[in-house]
Amino acid sequence: MNQIRSPKGVQIRSPRGVRDILPAETARWRRFEEDFSACCKQAGYGELRSPMFEELEVFLRLGEETEVVSKEMYDFLDKDGRHMALRPEMTASAARAFIQHSPVLPWKIYYYGPQFRSERPQAGRYRQFSQAGIEVFGVSDPYLDVEVIALGWQFLGSLGLKQLTLQVNSLGDTASRNNYSEQLGRYLAQRAGELSEASQETAQVNPLRVLDSKRDQDQAVIAGAPSCLDFLEVSAAAHFEAVCNGLEKLRIPYQVNPRLVRGLDYYTHTAFEYVSQALKSAQNALGGGGHYDGLVEALGGKPVPGVGFALGVDRIFLACDSEQVFISEQSPVEIFVVDIVGGGEALSLTQQLREAGISCDRAWESRSLKAQMKIADRSGAKFALIIGSNEQAANVVALKDLRSGEVPQEDIPRDEIVLALKDRLAMEISN
Ligand code: HAM
Repeated sequence: MNQIRSPKGVQIRSPRGVRDILPAETARWRRFEEDFSACCKQAGYGELRSPMFEELEVFLRLGEETEVVSKEMYDFLDKDGRHMALRPEMTASAARAFIQHSPVLPWKIYYYGPQFRSERPQAGRYRQFSQAGIEVFGVSDPYLDVEVIALGWQFLGSLGLKQLTLQVNSLGDTASRNNYSEQLGRYLAQRAGELSEASQETAQVNPLRVLDSKRDQDQAVIAGAPSCLDFLEVSAAAHFEAVCNGLEKLRIPYQVNPRLVRGLDYYTHTAFEYVSQALKSAQNALGGGGHYDGLVEALGGKPVPGVGFALGVDRIFLACDSEQVFISEQSPVEIFVVDIVGGGEALSLTQQLREAGISCDRAWESRSLKAQMKIADRSGAKFALIIGSNEQAANVVALKDLRSGEVPQEDIPRDEIVLALKDRLAMEISN
């Protein structure tokens, strides 16, 4: 490996478009993952952990004309010269795993983890971001589409988010979709002069992708485009009607948006997005998904249908901040040990408490009682255990309630401290 040097005096920072999540924030990331996992398990989904990189081939099946594949892939040759890519999403990896392991149908899985897309960074759009999602393989039942949509809706609601809408659409089966794409292509060709240059190019290769453009210049043409719902074959229309009926049965409010095509090419039938009104339109999709009939086959498997969604965790937290819900709360330690006789007492006491399952911390560098008590207060701990020379001589520790200045300090024999603390902490929980 070549030696890499950074120029002297230049501060090394994280790469553009990626971020550190610091301890004040990670608490809610962990809570989110645990809550999402519980929500999925409750509905019979098992967790899939797939690799963060795959052979590039896997992702090419997402559609070579999609920006995710053509412009945003972090691909590289490995040391054996194989073409690999960091995963930009999970559905393709899940389909690859499904083919590789031939599980019993239906295969209901959920996942959580980082994805990588080399996009232009902006608020809510990062080059490494996290998704939490589910996929079901092997069933083509419109009510399964509803179950999937409902799970995401229920989960977002459980975070406390209120300013949410659900948008749904149907792209129909392959025949309906191709027919619509052809008609749309004709319409876009007629109005090509009004489109942005980028969309003019896209229209030539994949007209549906133009509907996904966020560029202002394209919006009037998009608004006047024919609706894909007018091109649904009979069975595709029945599938969509059943999905809408199912949502009504569950009293989930939704808006039909015939321009919703999503950024990936594998969808047939249902497509949907959870949209936040609390965020600007460039980043207001908190998650999305849909039904896909051809992906497993395109990856070399049998023609097995799938349906799923992915939620964008980073963006969901922006919406939570804006709505002031699901805020990050760090869990402080329960006990803070203050040792003013050299630090060795705190060393053994913290070890003893941690072995007994009691969370605790301490101060360092033999600081004064006043300085250590200040750190103890700042730590958020409920109680301080203080050991000075008197306590050391009497083989006791002084227990002080840090939240109330009025409760007098109490001496507890050194060998009773674990039991005494457990009682105290249990009382706190039952109060
Ligand atoms: P997607 O719409 O590309 O769908 O991504 C899902 C969500 O991930 C988006 O709604 C957004 O919240 C978040 N997201 C996407 N790109 C970024 C980014 N650069 N920075 C921050 N957040 C981002 C999929 O990935 C499909 N695999 C969903 C699916 C599952 N369809 C069927 N099954």
